[in-house]
Amino acid sequence: MTLKAGVIGWPISHSKSPLIHSFWIQSLGLNATYEAIAIEPENFVAGVYDLIKKGFQGANVTIPHKEAAFQICDARSERAQKIGAVNTLVFRKGQIFGDNTDGEGFLQNITTNHPTWSVKNGPALVIGAGGASRAIICALIEVGCPEIRIWNRTFARAKRLQSEFGKPSLAWMDTLDKACEGASFLVNTTSLGMKGQDDLVIDLSGLNKGALVTDIVYTPLITPLLCAAKASGFPVVDGFGMLLHQAVPGFEYWFGVRPAVTEKLRKAVLK
Ligand code: ATR
Repeated sequence: MTLKAGVIGWPISHSKSPLIHSFWIQSLGLNATYEAIAIEPENFVAGVYDLIKKGFQGANVTIPHKEAAFQICDARSERAQKIGAVNTLVFRKGQIFGDNTDGEGFLQNITTNHPTWSVKNGPALVIGAGGASRAIICALIEVGCPEIRIWNRTFARAKRLQSEFGKPSLAWMDTLDKACEGASFLVNTTSLGMKGQDDLVIDLSGLNKGALVTDIVYTPLITPLLCAAKASGFPVVDGFGMLLHQAVPGFEYWFGVRPAVTEKLRKAVLK
């Protein structure tokens, strides 16, 4: 029997997930397929039930369906429950289970590319308060980050995150420069710096010596933020690995094998 999975989005043609999963399917010699599935928001629920009818093992979910995917689940992982969004659906005996693997992908990317990094080094600054930010904050809390600061263009959204995830581990900082002061880790979770978008304007000089700077934007691979951080001597990790690592748990749920994120995979997907 051919095992089937895919990625649901609208639009979906830009998604790199089919490249990632097909690379693993091929290199592991599995009898499985992974396809891009375009479903309009108004057809999302019917589209998911159609996949179940067709015998799919599950699917990844991307923009704009992550909240709708959360709603459709019969059961969810603890982290998905906290984040309020789902990027991985697993179909089991007619039931839908949902997980959110973005935070795990984020942490794995950092620990594999910068093994000496530790949340215990000091405060973390998270820029942005959207879905990606929620997943990353959740992951940082899970690994015991002592202080998380959020900066966001819209105050109310950052405030909401702060009250949801709880004091005193989160702190809302009103100016970006103040937020940088004494931080040991910085992550941009907004789309600023992406090709065609405005740059993130930030003065990094207040960061602690050796602070790690990372970005979830990976087009370009070295964003203006990472470029500025490098020029100031801070270690950086690009966001592409997060995309690769967030795919691992889904593949394991559907196909029963935990795949590896390798340099060969990275090169194949980047090409
Ligand atoms: P995602 O799920 O990818 O995180 P999102 O939920 O739409 O996407 O969140 C996007 C984040 O990028 C938000 O923090 C948003 O800030 P606002 O809450 O103020 O909207 C931020 N963002 C997007 N465009 C931005 C811009 N031009 N300047 C500053 N922040 C921006």
